[in-house]
Amino acid sequence: MRIPRQASPGAEPLLKVTGLVKHFPITHGVLRRQVGAVQAVDGIDFSVLPGETLGVVGESGCGKSTMGRLVTRLLEPTGGKIEFQGRDITHLGTSGMRPMRRDIQMIFQDPYSSLNPRHTVGTIVSAPFKLQGVKPAQGVKKEVQGLLELVGLNPEHYNRYPHEFSGGQRQRIGIARALALKPKLVVADEPVSALDVSIQAQVVNLLDDLQSELGLTYVIIAHDLSVIRHVSDRIAVMYLGKVVEVADREALYARPMHPYTTALLSAVPVPDPKRRTARQRILLTGDVPSPINPPSGCRFHTRCWKATEVCSAQEPPLIALETGHEVACHHPENAPKDAPGDAPKDAPDIGNQPTGL
Ligand SMILES: Nc1ncnc2c1ncn2[C@@H]1O[C@H](COP(=O)(O)OP(=O)(O)O)[C@@H](O)[C@H]1O
Ligand code: SF4
Ligand SMILES: [Mg+2]
Repeated sequence: MRIPRQASPGAEPLLKVTGLVKHFPITHGVLRRQVGAVQAVDGIDFSVLPGETLGVVGESGCGKSTMGRLVTRLLEPTGGKIEFQGRDITHLGTSGMRPMRRDIQMIFQDPYSSLNPRHTVGTIVSAPFKLQGVKPAQGVKKEVQGLLELVGLNPEHYNRYPHEFSGGQRQRIGIARALALKPKLVVADEPVSALDVSIQAQVVNLLDDLQSELGLTYVIIAHDLSVIRHVSDRIAVMYLGKVVEVADREALYARPMHPYTTALLSAVPVPDPKRRTARQRILLTGDVPSPINPPSGCRFHTRCWKATEVCSAQEPPLIALETGHEVACHHPENAPKDAPGDAPKDAPDIGNQPTGL
């Protein structure tokens, strides 16, 4: 069992995101007139405390990668605010961001395309030193070999090329590059989804060990809950450009409040076969709606078995129903008795809540 590494309550967040928006314009004709927008991220709030891991989960297309690229400032936000260590970095330009790049790093999903095949491992992992003009005391080569060792690679393989490594090893090279300048915040976008299931756990455990060793703060993005379950202190669930629930890991698994979270959890395999029957699988019907023209009110209402009239008319705000447990739903599950919202009278019985977690 993992001991939560969360900083003491009341600590200043390392990263604070408020009302973050990214709309990608859709243009038409030679004049490139804007005819619409992909509302990839549409007003999200969350913060990350020093030393903790925030897991971000949601189906493909819900805006997770866009969120990751916004907070690492690889994309320019359309609106909202991003603060890092209390400093507003929302609209910092390339030169303003350069010193921040030492502190904020990203690990990408695909270890095949994110490494330049014509560069040696030594060149790849030492690139951040060159870009930042950093001269390690013991020389770049020694430093890079130390990093290779840190991520479980043979330091003698300094002169090899990415194709000479397996997928898991390539992701370790990507991790070594991200950690070269000892960043404070690492955003990992589906760091193991491109890898064989058999080696996913090794890379996840490596990230976990490196966090303890180097005092890192993580935002780890995943499309299902099984990968991030073991590494997250808190989890944010996204649906169509919105954060619909945020809670401590234990609370989210034991008492999910948003129907979408309940459905996601019901799809997570239960390791213990004796407990498998205890859980009813909730199959979401209908397609994920388009972020170009998202549903009115609660964006989940087209697929939600608890939806009532209010759900399509009013957007539910993300509010804390318990300390540290925020949810955006008019009829939350497992809500404390005095919380706003209630179960609709004609809701069909969906059977057991996921209990096998
Ligand atoms: N550069 C872009 N231009 C236009 N649309 C984009 C761009 N990047 C992402 N999108 C769209 O934004 C939505 C969210 O994408 P993304 O952030 O990649 O989601 P996820 O990582 O959760 O799968 C998708 O509909 C995607 O097609
Ligand atoms: S607000 Fe309504 S539609 Fe949305 S998740 Fe809650 S019950 Fe379902
Ligand atoms: Mg993605």
